[in-house]
Amino acid sequence: MSASSPLAGKTILLTGAAGFIGSQLADHLLTLGCTVIGVDNFSRGTEANIAAARRNPRFSLHTLDLADESAVLDTLLPALRSTPIDEAWHMAANSDIPAGVRDPRVDHRNTFLTTFNTLLLLQQLNIPACCANPPARCSPSPTTVP
Ligand SMILES: NC(=O)c1ccc[n+]([C@@H]2O[C@H](COP(=O)([O-])OP(=O)(O)OC[C@H]3O[C@@H](n4cnc5c(N)ncnc54)[C@H](O)[C@@H]3O)[C@@H](O)[C@H]2O)c1
Repeated sequence: MSASSPLAGKTILLTGAAGFIGSQLADHLLTLGCTVIGVDNFSRGTEANIAAARRNPRFSLHTLDLADESAVLDTLLPALRSTPIDEAWHMAANSDIPAGVRDPRVDHRNTFLTTFNTLLLLQQLNIPACCANPPARCSPSPTTVP
């Protein structure tokens, strides 16, 4: 299966890797033969979600707040500079809809800012393709980063 996948051998940056969708995506991408570089701040994700991925040498994780621009550009960017990354899959977003309705700053921080800062990162790293989940959407399908 992995040999026939167009993703086999690719290095994927996966935000929200410890979340519900991100962790399952990580497991699947690893099964396809990808190297997965995860980013998560564990605000809603868990270590239990990524227990299987943690056992795979092709998985690594940066624990970092993607809403924090300086953390993204001053810490994550230098850490990733020397690693060629083929694609980014952006799943780090607020999934607590009631919390976002109660306080719009929750979505501003964990959906808008995480997405904006992720796009800044991709631009700096010249990562050409980004796939995002609808509420965290930066594009409806894989496309070119402006
Ligand atoms: N689960 C579903 O059925 C479903 C369906 C459609 C859309 N979505 C959307 O997809 C997205 C992901 O959903 P999910 O169910 O995986 O949610 P989730 O909360 O399980 O995963 C999101 C991950 O992003 C991380 N994250 C949040 N803010 C962060 C920040 N500032 N910095 C770094 N990491 C951060 C969280 O810790 C978490 O691990 C959400 O926007 C959700 O609304 C989910």
